[in-house]
Amino acid sequence: MGDETGWNETLDRASSWSRRWLASLGDRPVGVPVDAAEMRARLDDRLPAQGPPPAQVLDELAAALEPGLVASGGPRYFGFVTGGALPVALGADWMVSAADQDAATFVMSPAAAVVEEIAGRWVLDLLGLPDGAAVGFVTGAQMASVACVAAARRALVGAQGWDVERDGLAGAPVPTVVVGEHAHATMIQALRLLGFGSARAVRVPVDVHGRMRADRLREVLATIPGPVLVCAQAGQVNTGASDPFDEIADLVDAREHAWLHVDGAFGLWAAAAPTRRHLVAGVERADSWAVDAHKWLNVPYDAAMAIVRDRGALTEAMTTSAAYLPFGELDPAARTPENSRRARAVPIYAALRTLGRDGVADLVERCCVLARQASEELARHPRVEVLDDVVLNQVLFRPDGLDVADLAAAVQRDGTCWIGTTAWQGRPALRFSVSNWSTTAADVTRATTRITDLVDALSSPASPGAP
Ligand SMILES: Cc1ncc(COP(=O)(O)O)c(C=O)c1O
Repeated sequence: MGDETGWNETLDRASSWSRRWLASLGDRPVGVPVDAAEMRARLDDRLPAQGPPPAQVLDELAAALEPGLVASGGPRYFGFVTGGALPVALGADWMVSAADQDAATFVMSPAAAVVEEIAGRWVLDLLGLPDGAAVGFVTGAQMASVACVAAARRALVGAQGWDVERDGLAGAPVPTVVVGEHAHATMIQALRLLGFGSARAVRVPVDVHGRMRADRLREVLATIPGPVLVCAQAGQVNTGASDPFDEIADLVDAREHAWLHVDGAFGLWAAAAPTRRHLVAGVERADSWAVDAHKWLNVPYDAAMAIVRDRGALTEAMTTSAAYLPFGELDPAARTPENSRRARAVPIYAALRTLGRDGVADLVERCCVLARQASEELARHPRVEVLDDVVLNQVLFRPDGLDVADLAAAVQRDGTCWIGTTAWQGRPALRFSVSNWSTTAADVTRATTRITDLVDALSSPASPGAP
């Protein structure tokens, strides 16, 4: 058959570049030293009147972009909380692009709608969350929290006889929002986007691991007379520690108009591993949960779930319809802030079907074991102090007598692995996060050896700023 449309040639180019890139992930320098000016110079910034053929555009694009691509899907990228892409999830993601479905409504793509339904059920099952909760497939944990908090707003304000979707927030009986002092920045952003304001949220002090203190939450709640939205967290971004959900849920349950939301971007996956489930005990008692798939489930960006126990609260908060666009229970966009949308549940379905229950548990457990290994190897160095208990997949550490930013820059320049900086208890520190399916014990040792070598090199007066 001919290739009149050009599909074959174009997709072959994309496929062969992708294969080369993926095959290089384990060996190439992880970080990239290129700056924005160099990247701009590499990409022709003149919009042509008539462009070159597609295959040529892809070849040129690959050549221009490659120096600016971070090997963040590879086995020694330990920055932020970044998953790679399981081969099956990447394959499914390609198929999603090829099929190019608009997953807004059932009639636009019955396939996408039903995959969402099934993948949603599997996620609830794996995470031990209530049967029948609504699952909206969104771009990331931030957007998941936006959807969940919108549902909470709908329910709490609605219970006071106010239709917030119709009448807005001005003059509404707005609930008081309570967050832990270590709530993730994106949780605060979700509150901002929904009109709650970042500064108005009442902050509850945390313990040494960054977990909301239930005793202090009790005191805070005693000062709040009306409806309340409590935002708790599974997986503090530096320590992986989770809030004490059972104690928090007891306090929330004791109130009449109260909603408990959990930002579990990566930490909620602890519930899928029998060995780690105790870390999030009681989390199933919440009203809503935000959880990423592009982090620990190793599905390509961007993919996350907004999960809400009260299906009606989510769909009422998310849905507007038009005469030509009626929304019903089967329509995925009835549970998400977006209307037209990618069929992003397909790679999630593919990942879960391949891994199965045991595979997900193993992925979570393996990353935790590797994080523990990293912490032990780092702590063996006399100048390195590990600052967290490494209960999950996060290692927080600090080199004694060295500028943390200098060490991070040296590691990033070196390219063996990638780690980033943070602040912990008012002082700079480094984070080593293990979230990639392909990371091995050898990768961890290679990374920690290089990090500690660089600690030595930077500590040595003979080689300032080395290497
Ligand atoms: C606890 C927590 N919440 C939210 C987020 C934001 O997730 P996303 O970037 O997928 O929106 C992160 C990212 O690391 C996180 O750790």
